[in-house]
Amino acid sequence: MHPDDIKEYRRQHVPVFNTNTMKLGIFGQNCSYGCTITHAESTFEPTYEHSVLIAQQADALGFELLVPVGRWKGFGGSTDFNGTCMETYTWATAMATQTKNIMLFSTSHVPTIHPIMAAKQGATIDHISHGRWGLNIVCGWFSPEMEMFAAKQMEHDERYRYAGEWLQVIKRLWTEQNFDHTGEFFQVKDGYLLPKPVQQPYPALINAGFSPAGQDFSAREVDFNFIQVDTLEHGKEVVADVKKQANAYGREIGMMSYGFVVCRDTEKEAKQAYDYVVEKGDWTAARNILNLLGVESQSFSEATLTQFAERFIAGWGGYPLVGTPEQVVDAMVKIAHTGIEGLIVSWLDYNQELKYFGERVMPLLRQAGLRE
Ligand SMILES: Cc1cc2nc3c(=O)[nH]c(=O)nc-3n(C[C@H](O)[C@H](O)[C@H](O)COP(=O)(O)O)c2cc1C
Repeated sequence: MHPDDIKEYRRQHVPVFNTNTMKLGIFGQNCSYGCTITHAESTFEPTYEHSVLIAQQADALGFELLVPVGRWKGFGGSTDFNGTCMETYTWATAMATQTKNIMLFSTSHVPTIHPIMAAKQGATIDHISHGRWGLNIVCGWFSPEMEMFAAKQMEHDERYRYAGEWLQVIKRLWTEQNFDHTGEFFQVKDGYLLPKPVQQPYPALINAGFSPAGQDFSAREVDFNFIQVDTLEHGKEVVADVKKQANAYGREIGMMSYGFVVCRDTEKEAKQAYDYVVEKGDWTAARNILNLLGVESQSFSEATLTQFAERFIAGWGGYPLVGTPEQVVDAMVKIAHTGIEGLIVSWLDYNQELKYFGERVMPLLRQAGLRE
């Protein structure tokens, strides 16, 4: 098949390649406290049953994707933030059986799973979901997690070299048969995988690399790079830059981001709700994360992290979508102008607040031309 035809084929069948200007997803519903580091009151629970309620609502509203967090240990503090976390291949399989159209991603730390196993599980979920599965590739920046696997944490850029080879093996398993691979990290003799995935040539791939090595990995290997948007101006520059890097490899890449929603009838109510989340914040857990990110991911300066402390409490450093339905949509229009074509979002109370979002925000997004 000609590469352009492949692109068309993929675009026709897979929600993340549809024509909506602003694709929508949900971030972090598989973990305790989701993306909000706070004791603020919420009905949210990181249980299977609750996750199904959220997934089915998002599916009915036409959201394109669900992106779980890959987490093996909590971040301490009084919440032990994200300490309870459902494993994401099994979670995606379960969500696939309970939904119709939405895509289910698995967030996979490359050092925790052999590529043959990841390729096999992914292909299997792609069949169970009838071509709705995708892979979010993460390298692992939280050392205590990686050490639990008795693996010494690799130096930052080596993690992306490892991820590059890991994914090469997976892509070959998804597209070839009976091949040998000899590399720096993996040896595969007579590689074999059936069934091949439903999506051709392979399932949608995403990654949130932000460092030079991370962006280079995304530019070379995946369909969408996810960025943290600090300011819209900077976001626009990063979008253009990553797209240029992909073009240099003869590829195209889409760009998405993440945000948290606090939407109410009036601006005052929304701000009060936001302030309540921050006031009840677990600052110890937030501080633990900020320290780790500064030290271990190399993509954020200490000053940036401190400045974003509140944003971490409210939504893991995502873009704030706080205000009335009109204000939230205005913010999304501005984000779309940066070239970002999708947002995965979180709420303090996903299930409850998603109802309001569906009733009040979705119609305005259509009116604004961001979605069909
Ligand atoms: C939207 C988004 C989702 C992410 N999900 C996870 C995750 O589930 N688990 C994880 O360990 N890291 C996650 N990360 C961290 C990234 O994989 C990456 O390490 C981070 O963006 C820093 O970039 P760098 O690795 O290039 O330094 C996520 C980042 C973003 C922006």
